[in-house]
Amino acid sequence: MKLFLDTAEIGEIRTIASWGVLDGVTTNPTLFAKTSGMTYDEVLKEICTITDGPVSAEVVADDVEGMLKEGRHFAKLADNIVVKVPMSETGLQAISRFAAEGIRTNCTLIFTANQGLLAAKAGASLLSPFVGRLDDINEEGMIVIRELSDIIRFHEIDSEVLSASIRHPRHVTESALAGAHIATIPFKVFQQMVHHPLTDKGIAQFRSDWDTARKALEARGKKKG
Ligand code: E4P
Repeated sequence: MKLFLDTAEIGEIRTIASWGVLDGVTTNPTLFAKTSGMTYDEVLKEICTITDGPVSAEVVADDVEGMLKEGRHFAKLADNIVVKVPMSETGLQAISRFAAEGIRTNCTLIFTANQGLLAAKAGASLLSPFVGRLDDINEEGMIVIRELSDIIRFHEIDSEVLSASIRHPRHVTESALAGAHIATIPFKVFQQMVHHPLTDKGIAQFRSDWDTARKALEARGKKKG
């Protein structure tokens, strides 16, 4: 199971990389809009200096030639760029053309297993079903992760299921259990995954007991190890 960070914030990427758990990064226009002072190209190049895992760069054109132009440009920025293309009739055409050129793609905005199957057939390396947005409309996002992961493994298709639109730590656990190859996780959810009240309480208790023991020894004129 690979863990990607879902952000365009350089500081967040450096932090998760420093934990030794970062396998890649996904960006999108909304995430880029939250950053300031750098162009999208500059942000992407900087991210690719932090991780050599796949870094998704999303096209915004809605015609095939426009998608190809943007994607070819992104692919030249660094070897680990993956071009993110939305699920649509034109998106599928662009994905198949990119595949023929050897450019890896991440098909985004997938909401059904059939959309994922089409993207895989067109040649997408990564398939991104949006779990949280399905849950938001009273559907079961995890069903799509499970169905698509089963299809990919059953038919030995050479694409990976990337669980996206993750909203909380349970989404990560459930994606792993449902067979997703990758989950792309917001920074806040990574932090939530680290912490547990009993862990934090336990650390504070051990620290406090250690200090108490050390002070007691010091009071008796000895030093603890
Ligand atoms: C990642 O590739 C997606 O763009 C992202 O996970 C979407 O998340 P959201 O539904 O929280 O915007």
